[in-house]
Amino acid sequence: MSTPKKLYIKTYGCQMNVYDSERMAEALGGSGYVETQTPDDADMILFNTCHIRERAVEKVYSDLGRLKVFKAAKPDLKIGVAGCVAQAEGAEIMRRQPMVDLVVGPQSYHRLPELEARTRKGVRALDTDFPADDKFETLRHRPKVARGPTAFLTVQEGCDKFCAFCVVPYTRGAEVSRPVERILEEARNLVDRGVREITLLGQNVNAYHGAGTDGDWSLARLIWALDEIDGLERIRFTTSHPNDMSDDLIEAHGHCAKLMPYLHLPVQSGSDRILKRMNRSHTADDYLRLIERIRAARPDILISGDFIVGFPEETEEDFEQTLALIRAVEYGQAYSFKYSTRPGTPAAEREQLVEDVKTERLYRLQALLAEQQRRVQDRMVGRDVSVLIERSGRLPGQMVGKSEYLHAVHVADADASVDAAIGQLARVRITGSGTNSLSGVLK
Ligand code: 5AD
Ligand code: SF4
Repeated sequence: MSTPKKLYIKTYGCQMNVYDSERMAEALGGSGYVETQTPDDADMILFNTCHIRERAVEKVYSDLGRLKVFKAAKPDLKIGVAGCVAQAEGAEIMRRQPMVDLVVGPQSYHRLPELEARTRKGVRALDTDFPADDKFETLRHRPKVARGPTAFLTVQEGCDKFCAFCVVPYTRGAEVSRPVERILEEARNLVDRGVREITLLGQNVNAYHGAGTDGDWSLARLIWALDEIDGLERIRFTTSHPNDMSDDLIEAHGHCAKLMPYLHLPVQSGSDRILKRMNRSHTADDYLRLIERIRAARPDILISGDFIVGFPEETEEDFEQTLALIRAVEYGQAYSFKYSTRPGTPAAEREQLVEDVKTERLYRLQALLAEQQRRVQDRMVGRDVSVLIERSGRLPGQMVGKSEYLHAVHVADADASVDAAIGQLARVRITGSGTNSLSGVLK
């Protein structure tokens, strides 16, 4: 038997990329690769890139530049670029960076073995099509290796919403939902391998409408079907759009015990004028009323969001409306960004705000969000929560996991055999609230 080749994957960006990297590693497993945690002895280095953040493209080129020494030391080393930058830049990467052997877009990962084989023959391979065949269908036959008690599972990909700032509809393509049975099969497989919590992923996950036994199923129906899997204890999903927050999904938050009380529901801005210019097709008030309905169904739900400050034409008054919306909602978790242009998106063509204004607004917004998150976290002290134990902590006997609300919890004085506790749900009394985590003791 030939010795396995080593594959090093560097993953940038979102959870969907983490999931995709695992699938790519599995697909290349069939070509004789095993994953390695360092690029030093790799036979193939793959960058799974993200296009959402500012200067993402330049970062990829500069990281690629740093691989020169590796290629010089091992001329047979293959270098590949996958993910959304690969999709957006395509052949440009090949042109600017002659070291790159392979460029593959997110819809073509099932073709990786074939592309890799081509590079072994000395041919540079590029695949950024949106193919008609289903990548999940081809990838699903590979064995799935669970890495602990939590896992991601992609159920939906792409987006038809075309927010004026966002590259996703261009890099991930049109919205596609996987069929119900495929998802249930993958979920059962994960549970058989020790997974207790599954996070359903999609750029627009609550727009899910995959083929079920009797027509298309909603995300809520899918969640109820997952609820029946013995051994699966927790279900989460991300990321949602306010306009797809259907009644049955809100109701599932009220009644499905396995569905965790955490909802990531980005609003981006609190100004109706800006929301319109962002092409969000909802108002600030629509969002606030939606949050009210969700909280009526599940009062303790923790709300998380995304915000963009300094979008073209945003005035001080628009910005203050965003602050007002944040005060009204009280977020337990949030991500916020200065608007930055993405070539090819409508807002990139508009007149831009000066950097200082963006910076100052981001600072004020983040101060408010940090204060709220702190308050929400501090309120957990004295409460009993359920913690899914993921690993041992730094202190003897300490275990670390996540609460229902996705807070990291350090559990002290726990069972001496921590390993046995990994994957267990522990009842924990919260006793302290730190910078980024809670601490507690076993009940
Ligand atoms: N500029 C700043 N933030 C952006 N996001 C998406 N595109 C941009 C952009 N051009 C943010 C949005 C989205 C999150 C994933 O990234 O808030 O919800
Ligand atoms: Fe991008 Fe989300 Fe808007 Fe789709 S809904 S275009 S993924 S921000």
